[in-house]
Amino acid sequence: MDSLPLAPTPTRLISHFLKRPVQDHGPGWSALWDSNNSDLWDRGKPSPALIDLIEQQPLAFSPSTTDGRRKKALVPGCGRGYDVVMLALHGFDAYGLEISATAVAEARKYAAVEMSRPQEYNFDQAQSLTRDVGSATFIVGDFFESGSPRFTWLILAQFLCALHPHVRPQWAARMAQLVQPHGVLVCLEFPMYKDPLQDGPPWGVNGVHWDLLARGGDGVAGISQPPEAATDGLCGAFQRVQYFMPGRSYESGKGTDMMSVYERK
Ligand SMILES: C[S@@+](CC[C@H](N)C(=O)[O-])C[C@H]1O[C@@H](n2cnc3c(N)ncnc32)[C@H](O)[C@@H]1O
Repeated sequence: MDSLPLAPTPTRLISHFLKRPVQDHGPGWSALWDSNNSDLWDRGKPSPALIDLIEQQPLAFSPSTTDGRRKKALVPGCGRGYDVVMLALHGFDAYGLEISATAVAEARKYAAVEMSRPQEYNFDQAQSLTRDVGSATFIVGDFFESGSPRFTWLILAQFLCALHPHVRPQWAARMAQLVQPHGVLVCLEFPMYKDPLQDGPPWGVNGVHWDLLARGGDGVAGISQPPEAATDGLCGAFQRVQYFMPGRSYESGKGTDMMSVYERK
């Protein structure tokens, strides 16, 4: 008789969260930081896809308002702060929010060095190096706790894959609170290759962002939404204005990552 196929062995990251109640996931992330396990997800540099988006669309992603003020950008779940520093180096006043105090301490150390001597990986175009830089600020806090002012023009959302699917509707509601009208939410959608029903983190997100933000769904029902149906979702708080496969991305998402830009209605 043929033997039954073996279930795949969960990764260390998945095992860490598998039996943990969803309300304890935040402390679960902090525990990983405190026990020096950030290598499980840390890619050591900012997202090339986000750098290209900002540099290739200087008008849409200008770091200043028409009256010359610096725009504020928020990176929730910023980890060691690579994207926060990259945004500051491109002229934004950038804020990183982290549930882990250890991560924030690491991010502050990283920013202190990087802001004074930026490495080339922060830029694609050399001329970006000459830009007027903004600031990088790191805050310890839980993304789901209210209280932050609604000032944010730009949010980089890469951390949906780190959140249990049950909290996705709260993620979308919080994003709607944080982004000011006509502000933008930029999502690097990863992992797209993973079955959304498999255990995470990372949890598969194919179709999930659009379902949550534009359709106003629960982030599960709409997972196979065709892209052509998703160009101007009018039911949620956001409207998707860009959706494309980035030319560059992290190794783990090359050829499958998608970039989406949503405007707050
Ligand atoms: C997969 S890691 C990504 C880190 C970083 N964005 C990067 O690309 O290196 C997810 C991060 O989100 C943080 N995090 C998880 N839940 C959070 C929450 N509720 N509020 C704020 N940060 C959270 C974790 O501590 C962790 O650093």
